[in-house]
Amino acid sequence: MKIVSVVGARPNFMKIAPFIRAIKEHNLNGREQIDHILVHTGQHYDDKMSKAFFNALDIPNADINLGIGSGSHAEQVGRTMIEFEKVVRAEKPDWVVVVGDVNATCACSITAKKEQIKCAHIEAGLRSRDMSMPEEINRLVTDRLSDLLLTPDRLSGDNLRQEGVSEERIRFVGNIMIDTLEAQREKAAQLDPGVIVREAMITGQSLLSREQEDALAQNRIAVMTMHRPSNVDDQKILTEIIDFLMNEVSIDMPLLWPVHPRTMNQMKSFGLWEKALACENFLLMNPLGYHDLLRLNLGARIMLTDSGGLQEESCVLGTPCLTLRWNTERPITLREHGGASVLVGNNVEMIRNEYHESLAMERKPVRPELWDGKTAERIVKAIVGYGSKEERRPETGEGRKETGA
Ligand code: UD1
Repeated sequence: MKIVSVVGARPNFMKIAPFIRAIKEHNLNGREQIDHILVHTGQHYDDKMSKAFFNALDIPNADINLGIGSGSHAEQVGRTMIEFEKVVRAEKPDWVVVVGDVNATCACSITAKKEQIKCAHIEAGLRSRDMSMPEEINRLVTDRLSDLLLTPDRLSGDNLRQEGVSEERIRFVGNIMIDTLEAQREKAAQLDPGVIVREAMITGQSLLSREQEDALAQNRIAVMTMHRPSNVDDQKILTEIIDFLMNEVSIDMPLLWPVHPRTMNQMKSFGLWEKALACENFLLMNPLGYHDLLRLNLGARIMLTDSGGLQEESCVLGTPCLTLRWNTERPITLREHGGASVLVGNNVEMIRNEYHESLAMERKPVRPELWDGKTAERIVKAIVGYGSKEERRPETGEGRKETGA
C-alpha cells in the first residue's frame, strides 16, 4: 500500500510525527508493507516555524517539498493544487492523508479526489461554524471530500452525522496531538524555563531580572500566543489587547509571548512593536520549539491564546486557558465540557474578568476519551483495514458505536 501524507504549516507537524512512527511500527510487524511518502507544501518555511519541528519531533525530511511559501489564500491553495497534482500523478498512491485545517489540507484533499485517490482526514469533524475563518472553510471542504474521517472526539462525529455523512466514513480515533504531547512531555519537563526564555528573547530587550528569574523558576508566569487575523489584523483590537497585557498582566507576573511572524508584522505596522519591547515584564520571544513551549505550558499560571492546539494541550495539562476567540471548533476543551478553557473573544472587559477568575483556579488536568497517546496506531489500523469486515467488527461495538477504530 502506498500512502502520501501532507503537511504545510506548523500545527501539522505535531500531528504527522506520530502517524509516521505508527507506520514504521506497522511495517516492523511484518504485515503488508506501507510505502510512505511525506510531502511538505512549504506554506511555513522559516526554520523556526518548520525545520525546528522536524528536528525536535524526529520527523524525517520531507520526500518532496512543493515550495509554496507565503501568499493570499487563493495563491497558496492554487499553487499547492498545481504542484500536488504532479506528485499524485507520478506516485499514484492508494491514499492521500491530510491533517488539520490549513490551506495544504484543503488543497491536497481536492487534488486527491479529482485524481480519484482515496483521502483520509486526520482531525475530521471539528466545526466552529464561523465562516469568516479560512480554517472552517478548509475543514468543510476536506470533510466533504474525504473517504475516511478520523475524528478526535465524539462531538466531531456528531457534527459529521448532522451533515449527513454516512457511518462507514467515520472513525473515532482520538486526538493525535496528544500522542506527541505524551511522547515528548518527559523531555520537555527537564528543560529550564530561564534558559528557554533567555535564548528566545528578541534582541534589544534587557536580560532577565532577579524577580523574573525567580518567577520563571517558580512557574509564576503567563504565556501568550496570538496569530488569528481576527485578533491581529485590526489595529484597535490588537492595541487594546496589548495595552491590557502590558498594563495589567505583566504587572502581576512576567508575560511570555513567542510571536508569530504575522503578528510581529502587524505589531510593527501599527507602531506597537517598540512599545511592547520597552515594557519590562513583557517578554517577547521568537517562535519557540515544541519542547520549549510545552515546558512553559507545563507550569504556567495561565495561558492566553487563539491557537486550537494550545487549547487542547492546556486541557490535558490543566493550565487555565483564556481562548481569545468568540467560538471554537474544539468545544471539548471548554470548562462546560470539563476542560480548562474559556472563550473570551477579544473584548478586554471579558478577558480581564476571566483572567482574574482563572488565576484563582487550581490546575485541573482533564483527559477526554481516547486522548491516550495511541491515536496514530488506531489511524493506521483504520486506513489499512478500510473497507474490510475485520476493521469494523460490529460485535465489539467498534466503528458504529464510536469506541475506537
Ligand atoms: C496558518 C494556518 C492556521 C494555523 C497557523 C499556525 C491556514 C489558513 N492557516 O496561519 O490555521 O493556526 O498557520 O501558525 O492555513 N510567515 C513567515 N514565515 C513562515 C510562515 C509564515 O514569515 O514560515 C508569515 C508570512 O508573512 C505570511 C504570514 O506569516 O504571510 C501568515 O502565514 P500563513 O501561512 O499565510 O498563515 P498563518 O497565519 O500562519
